[in-house]
Parts: sequence; structure tokens; C-alpha cells
Amino acid sequence: MILVTGGTGLVGSHLLYHLSLQNDPIRAIYRSESSLESVKKVFSFYTSDTSLFDKIEWLLADITDVTTMIPAFINIKQVYHCAAFISFNPKDYREMRKINIHGTAIIVNLCVDAKIDKLCFVSSIAAVGDSLKNNIITEEDEWNKELDNSGYSITKFGAEMEVWRASQEGVDVVIVNPGVILGSGFWNSGSGKLFTQVYNGFKFFTEGITGFVSVQDVVKPMILLMNSDVKNERFILISENKSFKEIFFLIADAFKIKRPSKKIKPWQTAIFWRVASLLSFITRKEPLLSKYSAKSAHSISEYSSGKVKKTLNIEFESIEKSVKRITDSFLKSYFF
Ligand SMILES: NC(=O)c1ccc[n+]([C@@H]2O[C@H](COP(=O)([O-])OP(=O)(O)OC[C@H]3O[C@@H](n4cnc5c(N)ncnc54)[C@H](OP(=O)(O)O)[C@@H]3O)[C@@H](O)[C@H]2O)c1
Repeated sequence: MILVTGGTGLVGSHLLYHLSLQNDPIRAIYRSESSLESVKKVFSFYTSDTSLFDKIEWLLADITDVTTMIPAFINIKQVYHCAAFISFNPKDYREMRKINIHGTAIIVNLCVDAKIDKLCFVSSIAAVGDSLKNNIITEEDEWNKELDNSGYSITKFGAEMEVWRASQEGVDVVIVNPGVILGSGFWNSGSGKLFTQVYNGFKFFTEGITGFVSVQDVVKPMILLMNSDVKNERFILISENKSFKEIFFLIADAFKIKRPSKKIKPWQTAIFWRVASLLSFITRKEPLLSKYSAKSAHSISEYSSGKVKKTLNIEFESIEKSVKRITDSFLKSYFF
């Protein structure tokens, strides 16, 4: 039996759909009934056949609460650990440590106890280092704790350390490090917000560059890696390195609406995140922009997914094609 954590999120829900096409029984954990509706919605983008969703055994559990997680591991042979808390708000740092590092330690301990065959952990390019020579970043570039890393980056790196511990304690592991993941279904969080903002006429863009990948191009290699002999390796998953400007323009073009036209310069975001942080302190609301989101909007980091392409003999869908598909499902979910 396969166990999936984070099955109610972007990656986990698309992963569950692809796993449901196979024969192995699947168990997934959830924290609230309402989040199951989002998973059904994601399945509906692929198929009208509800029997695939019905194949999943759902169990109420929280990865930070070991007593709720113990029953989840009964009869489990493979674990896909996708659950995490993603935030660039400094006030969320402690909670991120709890979920991302402590939660992963609990998963690892249970994997070791249950003697499972293999664990797949969804990390991030945030846990890969910057290239020292300004070259394209690969899996060999070590994460550098001396840099001004975001809390998210620190906790994803800390989680990876727990997963490497699993490999030392007898569990085969694979780690994937996706870039910014684009996918359908979660239009008000994560990268889904990019589609909503551009659709609503967002006028601004920045010229920072990073790696982008579609959610299908994350979950398919995960399944291939889990069903292969590959073990104790990590793999960057990106389709293309693109600027935020290019992504915003691709989304606007796919929606057939006006492209964002106002370029934001680094000094403007530098002022904006400081004002946003002050306002958030006064109002106790989420800041509209955090220091690390501002930084990543302008930083230029290019990644290579050569290792996974060579290992699995696969190619990634172009970002233009992925964006087109996602905007189509965005319009369908809004108007139908
Ligand atoms: N999205 C990206 O662009 C991106 C890029 C690179 C790497 N990643 C990594 O990919 C993985 C999945 O990300 P995502 O985009 O799918 O995130 P997401 O949509 O925010 O989903 C997060 C998932 O984690 C679950 N979760 C959070 N805390 C939990 C807890 N204490 N116990 C049990 N479940 C918990 C959430 O459950 P609820 O529904 O109950 O909240 C949800 O299912 C994460 O590890 C993330 O770091 C994401």
C-alpha cells in the first residue's frame, strides 16, 4: 500500500490522480473535510470518472502528531511525503520548523519502524545551493547556511537532512527538488495566485529568473523514480528557467488579455516590503510582500534538470504549453 502526505495540496492531489491510475491501494491523510473537495476538483480536471477518487482511503492525521500518524503506516510499503507549510512571512518560521522539519522527522521515524521499501520526499530548489561560479545550478551545489536564507529554505534543507537520515537507517529514499510548480486547482494560493492575479489585470512584473515546472512534470518523475532501482539521490525538476516577466506575459497571452506593463525595480520592492512589514506589525495582518518574496522577485538563479532527464530518459513539457493548459482549466473552473 502507498501512503501520501499532503494529498490535499497542489502536488499531492495531482500525484493522487496519477497514482490512482495504477493498481496499488492508496492511503492519504487529510486535516479537514473541506480540503477533500479541492482534491475532487483536481480529479475532475482529468476525468469525470469518480471511481478513481473513491479508490483512496482517507485518514484524518497531522504529520506533527505522531499518535495520529501511527495508524497511517499500517501495511505501507511506499511513502510519498508532500506535506509542508510554505510561507515567506517571518512570523510563520516557528510553525514551518514544526511542520517541515519536525513533521518530516516523524515521517522518517515511522518509515524506519515500518521498514517501508521506499520514501519519496518533495523538497524544493530552495534547498539547493546557489552556484558559486554563477553557472547553472545542479544537485551538486551545496546549500550554504552562511547566506541570508528564507525560513522556508532553512526548513526544507532541515527536512532533507531528516530524509538523508532515513537512508542511513535502512530506508531507500529519493528526493525531488522542483522549481516553482505551475498547476490547476489552487487558484488562491501558491503559484495558482499568479494566474488569478494576471487574470484580474495585475499590472506589474519583475525580471528575476528562476526554474518553473508543471505539476504533471513533478508527479510523473516522482512515480517513475519510486518504481525504479534509483535510490538515495536527489533530482532537480524544472522544465525551463524563465523570468517572472516572461511567465506573466505567457499567462496574459494565454488568457488573451493585456500584458502587465509596469516593470518594478529592485529599489521599489525594497521600499514596499519594508512598508508592508511595518503595516503588518501594526494591523497584525499578513504582509502584502515579505523580504524574501521581494528578493526572489529580482534574483537570477538558473537550474539544470539534466540529471533526472538522463536517469529516467524523459523530457519536460514546455512552460508555454503548460501555461496554456492551466489557463484553460482556470477558465473552465470559473465559468462552468
Ligand atoms: N508549490 C510550489 O511551487 C513548490 C515548489 C517547490 C517545492 N514545493 C514543495 O512541494 C510540496 C507540496 O507543495 P504544494 O504546492 O502542494 O503545497 P500546498 O498546496 O500548500 O499543500 C500543502 C499540503 O501539506 C499539507 N499539510 C501542511 N501541514 C500539514 C500537517 N501538519 N499535517 C498534515 N498535512 C499537512 C496540507 O494539508 P491541508 O490541506 O490540511 O492544509 C496540504 O495538503 C511541499 O513540500 C513544498 O515545499 C512546492
